[in-house]
Amino acid sequence: MHSQDRRKWSLVRESDISSDTHEALAEMLARAYPAYAGIFSGRRSWAWARPEARMVGLADDRPVAQLGLLRQFVQRGESGERLLVGEVGTVAVDPGFQGRGIGRELLAQTATELAGLALDFGYLTCSPAVIPFYEGAGWHQLPHSSVSAGDSHTMILPLNASLSAWPRTFQAT
Ligand SMILES: CC(C)(COP(=O)(O)OP(=O)(O)OC[C@H]1O[C@@H](n2cnc3c(N)ncnc32)[C@H](O)[C@@H]1OP(=O)(O)O)[C@@H](O)C(=O)NCCC(=O)NCCS
Repeated sequence: MHSQDRRKWSLVRESDISSDTHEALAEMLARAYPAYAGIFSGRRSWAWARPEARMVGLADDRPVAQLGLLRQFVQRGESGERLLVGEVGTVAVDPGFQGRGIGRELLAQTATELAGLALDFGYLTCSPAVIPFYEGAGWHQLPHSSVSAGDSHTMILPLNASLSAWPRTFQAT
């Protein structure tokens, strides 16, 4: 049987992840993000903000895909009202498994889970090179005025709201 056929997906709370799994995730992330390999050493399997949960894909009990989820507020520029979104980060597929549709599966599984959390939008920032990867999974790049610092682009995924419900101006808090 091909390892793809045995892949299992689960949304795991950060507090339920074992030290061994953190180590396996860190090792995979160091290979997926060679420029940041120094961050992912030992059991350190997160980069900036620590996620509260992760979507993990296992093949033969080994993590081959993962992303972190963290609920975050963005503030509407118009009213100052805060909007809770599901921020997605550290999206990665093991380099030895890339190009087989696993990343697409990872985003699809995540969208289903985020919608089940009653969140209106998924939210992420990414480099321009991977925008088509997210667009293919239903994410929308925000207009140029919403581009965040540096070369990082903001993308949103409408879940329980329509795209037009996203604020015209906003600030991540
Ligand atoms: C980006 C990443 C998660 C994609 O995973 P993957 O399993 O290789 O992707 P898939 O095979 O499911 O590809 C799905 C679609 O996205 C496209 N795609 C995949 N990687 C892409 C990339 N880096 N840039 C642009 N498009 C990409 C594929 O061509 C495919 O398109 P199609 O549906 O038209 O055939 C993986 O390459 C990775 O881990 N990269 C290193 C870490 C990274 O850059 N993460 C994103 C940070 S924001």
